Amino acid sequence: MEEFKNKVAWITGASSGIGEALAYSYAKKGAYLILSGRNKEALEAVQKNCLLFTDKCEILSFDMLDIQSFKNIVAQANSYFGKIDFLCNNAGISQRSLIVDTPIEIDRKVMELDYFSQVGLTKEVLPYFQKQQSGHIIVISSVAGKYGFHYRSAYSAAKHALVGFFETLRLELKDIPIYVTLVYPGRIHTNISINAIKADGTQHGIMDEAQEKGIAADLCAEKILKGVRKKKVELLIGREELILVYMKRWFPALYYKFVLKVKPN
Ligand SMILES: NC(=O)c1ccc[n+]([C@@H]2O[C@H](COP(=O)([O-])OP(=O)(O)OC[C@H]3O[C@@H](n4cnc5c(N)ncnc54)[C@H](OP(=O)(O)O)[C@@H]3O)[C@@H](O)[C@H]2O)c1
Repeated sequence: MEEFKNKVAWITGASSGIGEALAYSYAKKGAYLILSGRNKEALEAVQKNCLLFTDKCEILSFDMLDIQSFKNIVAQANSYFGKIDFLCNNAGISQRSLIVDTPIEIDRKVMELDYFSQVGLTKEVLPYFQKQQSGHIIVISSVAGKYGFHYRSAYSAAKHALVGFFETLRLELKDIPIYVTLVYPGRIHTNISINAIKADGTQHGIMDEAQEKGIAADLCAEKILKGVRKKKVELLIGREELILVYMKRWFPALYYKFVLKVKPN
């Protein structure tokens, strides 16, 4: 796809799952890459694979919770290729705990990574996009950003919050060719449930049955890039779990009865 050739894509959470798959999809289309995450070893493995398809791929490892560092981080990202064309706000963590058991510190932790870090990074990238009068922000929300779901109260809240923020940003950018695509994946086969946080702050550590049956991350990434190429404002990616989104929109009374019966994991 010519749209991506020699364009710069910066992907957060590129060390695994959807972010890793996005890196390969961009690389195969000839994009230059900046890969971010905390796990340098994993990022190096992804970089090696990307370099099979593209000439340029940098690693910029940092903790998304260190919002104070973002000004320098963004300057560093921009310095690699002199521009950033796509910012993929993908890093995130899920949750598995009942509200009644979950201390507020856990809610804040999830919100900090899944909402504030994306917002913080975007705010630092925006001036660069405005200066170059171009750019495309891809935000990975979730179907949990469309409806609340058992054991994922803070996660669902953060994913809903992203929608409010980035839909507003899209309005504010209406006169500039800077685009925002909100992605709502359903169940994608990644380690997200294993890495999910529990009420006591430890990892869930389990590949949930539904997660395991989810669509492959590389298919998800291809669908994202197809939508990005078309500058779609919204992308729903998944299988039967998407029915809930349409049901809530068109038949809310039915949805509120039906969702109670859906197996959480
Ligand atoms: N899989 C699904 O079914 C699904 C569905 C809807 C939405 N999503 C969303 O898709 C995105 C990617 O998730 P995934 O499924 O690919 O899960 P994953 O395999 O667990 O990937 C999560 C990524 O986030 C990064 N990350 C986590 N904490 C970080 C931190 N403090 N600083 C920097 N990076 C951090 C991780 O990198 P490091 O460990 O190297 O830091 C990792 O690359 C998330 O936003 C998730 O909410 C996934």
